[in-house]
Amino acid sequence: MHLSMIGAGYVGLVSGACFAEFGHQVTCVDKDASRIEALKQGKMHLYEPGLGELVQKNFRDGRLVFTTDLGKAVETSLAVFIAVGTPPRGDGSADLSAVEAVGKEIAAHLNGYKVVVTKSTVPVGTGERLRQIISKHKPEGVSFDIASNPEFLREGSAVEDFFRPNRVVIGAESPQAIAILKDLYRPLYLIETPILLTNIATAEMIKYASNAFLATKISFINELANLCEPLGVDIHQVAKGMGLDGRIGSKFLHPGPGFGGSCLPKDSQALVKMAEAQQVELRVLSGVVAANQAQRERMMGKIRSLVGPLKGKTIAVLGLAFKPNTNDLRESPALWIVSQLAKEGAQVRVYDPEAMTDARAVLTGQSIVYAQDAYDAARGSDAVVLATEWNQFRNLELEKLKGVMRQPNFLDLRNVYDPDRLIALGFQYVGVGRAGTKTKP
Ligand code: NAD
Ligand code: UGA
Repeated sequence: MHLSMIGAGYVGLVSGACFAEFGHQVTCVDKDASRIEALKQGKMHLYEPGLGELVQKNFRDGRLVFTTDLGKAVETSLAVFIAVGTPPRGDGSADLSAVEAVGKEIAAHLNGYKVVVTKSTVPVGTGERLRQIISKHKPEGVSFDIASNPEFLREGSAVEDFFRPNRVVIGAESPQAIAILKDLYRPLYLIETPILLTNIATAEMIKYASNAFLATKISFINELANLCEPLGVDIHQVAKGMGLDGRIGSKFLHPGPGFGGSCLPKDSQALVKMAEAQQVELRVLSGVVAANQAQRERMMGKIRSLVGPLKGKTIAVLGLAFKPNTNDLRESPALWIVSQLAKEGAQVRVYDPEAMTDARAVLTGQSIVYAQDAYDAARGSDAVVLATEWNQFRNLELEKLKGVMRQPNFLDLRNVYDPDRLIALGFQYVGVGRAGTKTKP
């Protein structure tokens, strides 16, 4: 089947390449001409394990093409997916301007029946709004359907998530749209992926509800971790004990500096706003959002309690991306912490395996030093802050690290290390939810 994917960002590029791998003919469209040109030359603008190979293979085989020409892509497609960004507006609600602009453009190029599918995360009612926009701007006599097919992939494991999803949600209300979407996902039937068929509004809500629930688990465990510290309880044992209950589950109970990324923060806020518009208060989710901001601030308190006032101190920050295996810096707690450290007068030496180039564009100023590796970052530092748990930070040569530091303070925001081991080596160690600062007796 011919389909087009409008927006060649994380979701559009991953979904486009994976649909091409299923054997479909995919046109990826983006308005960013330099991005499209780079993709044609096999250069990726984002770091996502396995994606480069998949893109190159399907491009070479002719099943995946890149263009800035939305009109032509639409004209040759039976299904048109919208995968553009839906960033937060100033008040936290979702900005739908890109989705609506694309809707108008699609309408202008409808030359026969097509199903227009939102893959972007969009508030309930957007499908209906899109139907109105397209109806208003399309040529007379051509028919179309709207569908919602929210995406649940995680950055860093996006390709695997697309090929082995926990479920596929299809929000569609006409037999033709349902048949087309089922056909697109046919290869997943073979591995017995649950396919949930529902109406459009419900599909839109399932996406927000899922992200909001994941965010809730994280804020819950973070707040509990904070309580465990003064009580001398290890949060990991608590999370394990909770997670063994099948009703709770063990996933997303890892404490840290708070959730980041382009979706959990924005979608939680957008859902609160969606509820406000209906005069419904989401008290739990509002608390989740507030707890997440407080968690970042609490991490700063931990650094101050280790090294004292930050003015004139040198702090090494390991990891800048919001999670490992991506170069995505959007809403990264690490990035926020670096900015705060610099604001409070510290010299910050940073290192990330994949996000350095992007970080240089957003983190500027004399007080930021871009290091060559973790040990270079730690050179002359008063504390090392492990902010993102890349694999290469999980097995640091700790003696070597200590040797280059000014003061052996280790702030493990991802609880990667065994506190006793670091303390035995002469570090002052602070984790999250692990009974506060421990020092060698
Ligand atoms: P992104 O910013 O990486 O990519 C969006 C792309 O759309 C950009 O390349 C941009 O140039 C392009 N674009 C914007 N306006 C356009 C237009 N008028 N015509 C053509 N191209 C246009 O965004 P993303 O992270 O891929 O997210 C896209 C959507 O998917 C969002 O709604 C997001 O919430 C949702 N989502 C993201 C993820 C994720 O892991 N990133 C996962 C699930 C859902
Ligand atoms: C998240 C969801 O997991 C995806 O299902 C969804 O499709 C996507 O958002 C989206 O809508 O964009 P992603 O943002 O890639 O995926 O990353 P996650 O793995 O969910 O991590 C989000 C944040 O939570 C990271 O900052 C991570 O460090 C943090 N986290 C995660 C914790 O602090 N503790 C945990 O136990 C798990």
